[in-house]
Amino acid sequence: MSCQKRSKVLSFFTDFFTYETTKSVVVKSWSVGIINRIVQLLIIVYFIGLVPVCLCKAYQNIDTGIESAVMTKVKGFGLYNNQVMDVADYVVPTQGASVFCIITKLIVSENQTQSFCMFRPAHACFRCSDLLTPASDVQTCSRLLQMFRPAHACVKTWFPSLLLYFRSPMKEAENFTIFIKNSIRFPMFNVTRGNFPSNIDEKYIKTCKYDPVHNPSCPIFRVGDILKYTNESFNTIASTGGEIGINVGWVCDLDQSEEECKPSYSFTRLDDVFQDNKVSKGYNFRFAKYFRSPDGTEYRTLHKAFAIRFDILVSGKAGKFNAVPTVINVVAAFTSVGLGTVLCDLILLNFLKGAEQYKAKKFEEVRKRSPALPDVPGEPTTP
Ligand SMILES: *[C@@H]1O[C@H](CO)[C@@H](O)[C@H](O)[C@H]1NC(C)=O
Repeated sequence: MSCQKRSKVLSFFTDFFTYETTKSVVVKSWSVGIINRIVQLLIIVYFIGLVPVCLCKAYQNIDTGIESAVMTKVKGFGLYNNQVMDVADYVVPTQGASVFCIITKLIVSENQTQSFCMFRPAHACFRCSDLLTPASDVQTCSRLLQMFRPAHACVKTWFPSLLLYFRSPMKEAENFTIFIKNSIRFPMFNVTRGNFPSNIDEKYIKTCKYDPVHNPSCPIFRVGDILKYTNESFNTIASTGGEIGINVGWVCDLDQSEEECKPSYSFTRLDDVFQDNKVSKGYNFRFAKYFRSPDGTEYRTLHKAFAIRFDILVSGKAGKFNAVPTVINVVAAFTSVGLGTVLCDLILLNFLKGAEQYKAKKFEEVRKRSPALPDVPGEPTTP
């Protein structure tokens, strides 16, 4: 190995094992100094004070994948159209799911049968049995009717048709109560909770009514109160129908006792956006009950029901201390303090008096001295 090669290798190593450090320029200027400290202070205050409070615990692991099960039970008696209505009459579906309807108004059309009707000029209707004895097949019946009134279309339909007359809603529905049983689980931390304490006594649960101030943990809600919280009038919503959301929100800090992990309830009218529409206001649906007369004719009773539909929506998140987000946020805090420098440099080098001087100090120019070319006279060169 030649001597020259060896010295090259040596210089490579000596160049590699070095430490570089940045040279600082200290600027004794009040204005930049004050700006620098203020910016640093703001960043520190943000990370120490605001991040844990506003961004919901930057030092915690957050679980938003809440698992939930809801069971409901409605109670109360109503009086409608001289008939007593109990839960089996006015709750649809009856299984006690998280979505259910309380029927508040019913329009009933009794003893409908399949008949041939002419829609013009009037609702004139013929039963085949009125024309033929015994009733033959549909085609014959239809042909016969066409012969009677050739100018008019004749269709087979349920008759008499539903007459939409005004009915007032069931007033007692205002006093019905809804019992909500909600159990949830945060899978990340394997924490299970219920929406009311397990040590609640029977007497309390039989008598209590939910109230956001005096009784926030009672799981029994009066329909009238729910409508009051959504600023809806009972009479309006009960006669047109509507959709109400009951939100069960779980925001839990599991660094505290699990007992503190309680739900909070809020209420909204979900179909509010359609209230100013000309069409499809409110909520209604139809259902029928079928029966057969002794002579074999099928009858039905058709109901048009106006109902308040309740949707129970469960959402939530839980947080628990974890080292990883804590370290990430602390590191982020320390690095962001450096942001102050960027801002101060910008001001220092562009807007301040004497910016040129600062620039010259900060960016020191070093030129490579070439022995072949003579130095430009008058211009200082770095040694
Ligand atoms: C609801 O209950 C209250 C108190 O029990 C009663 O005064 C009121 O008349 C009831 N409302 C209806 C519509 O039945």
